[in-house]
Amino acid sequence: MSSLLVDNIGELVTNVAGTGEGGRLGIRRGAAILVEEGRIAWLGPARYAPAADRRLDAEGAAVLPGFVDSHAHLVFAGDRAAEFAARMAGQPYTGGGIRTTVAATRAASDDVLRATVRRLRTEAMRQGTTTIEIKSGYGLNVTDEARSLRIATEVTEETTFLGAHVVPTEYADRPDDYVGLVCGPMLTAAAPYARWIDVFCERGAFDADHARAILTVGQAAGLGLRLHANQLGPGPGVQLAVELGAASADHCTHLSGADVEALAGSSTVATLLPGAEFSTRSPYPDARRLLDARVTVALATDCNPGSSYTSSMPFCVALAVREMGMTPAEAVWAATAGGARALRRTDVGVLRPGARADLMILDAPSHLHLAYRPGVPLIRQVLHNGVPQCRP
Ligand code: NIG
Ligand code: FE
Repeated sequence: MSSLLVDNIGELVTNVAGTGEGGRLGIRRGAAILVEEGRIAWLGPARYAPAADRRLDAEGAAVLPGFVDSHAHLVFAGDRAAEFAARMAGQPYTGGGIRTTVAATRAASDDVLRATVRRLRTEAMRQGTTTIEIKSGYGLNVTDEARSLRIATEVTEETTFLGAHVVPTEYADRPDDYVGLVCGPMLTAAAPYARWIDVFCERGAFDADHARAILTVGQAAGLGLRLHANQLGPGPGVQLAVELGAASADHCTHLSGADVEALAGSSTVATLLPGAEFSTRSPYPDARRLLDARVTVALATDCNPGSSYTSSMPFCVALAVREMGMTPAEAVWAATAGGARALRRTDVGVLRPGARADLMILDAPSHLHLAYRPGVPLIRQVLHNGVPQCRP
């Protein structure tokens, strides 16, 4: 059994509240971390560090838990750069472009889809993302939803069945029949490859009755619940997510007072996706309002070819700080521990003995630099399950 000691750490963000400075960030100085068999075996003052087979010198830089990106759509073919350009010239985002990606995804071979998923997974890892949730949702038939999820399981254990992304063209005048397909044969084919089920609950996609029906059968099939809610306008999504005990309500861009209140009294995390507002030139969600109401907030990329083609959690942290009223500490917590809460995970998003050895070493002395130096590649090294992912 080979052990690795990470030492010479300047600022260590543990996310273990009350164990150091920075409130919830649990910042420690002069600490070291011993990694064995992919887990943190020991964490404490460097002068008491146990002997190890190998050493990784953090050179006085900041060390943080790896990012937990709890919302991404990586299984697709094609790109929609022209749609982005049209938006930047004044066109609104409607979600209608999803069908363009569905056509390209259905036509793509397994190898083409696999290559895209792996490329984006690697891209995210290099930017510090050690846990990533990946949704289906661009197949929208039994075969292509199941194969999207099967390919996603090759790179993550956090897979989500999103057969209810939009009603595909061939069912345009029979939405109830499509919901029947999603709840029946499609769920049966998808469930073996999925941990979660999600619905795009929005005008033009699925209404609250459809969303409730789909999530209820998904739950009966053993899947956890998540929901795309209140992205493009006000609606019933957030309160439905809370009512059903979903792990996460995602987007939360257009919230009423009752929506905020419902989230505040619940175990449902509000997952904010500022890459989508950036890329659709829309108003950002008000994170400050949620935090002040004591809602648990997560940040994620929403990486997809239409509304948010970024895999960069540091970019989302910077946007959240600059545009959504979050402090750097709140944004870093939301992008790590918050994402873990949104996935109901206790072994990631935190650095303590027993947790997964998923961490990043910055090219910077503190977590503040993630927002202070936007657009700069600040991730020097990433450990995933204790294994270094970047060249030394
Ligand atoms: O989360 N809102 C629905 N789904 C994606 C967008 C997908 C697309 O435009 O292709 C989202 O933003
Ligand atoms: Fe999404």
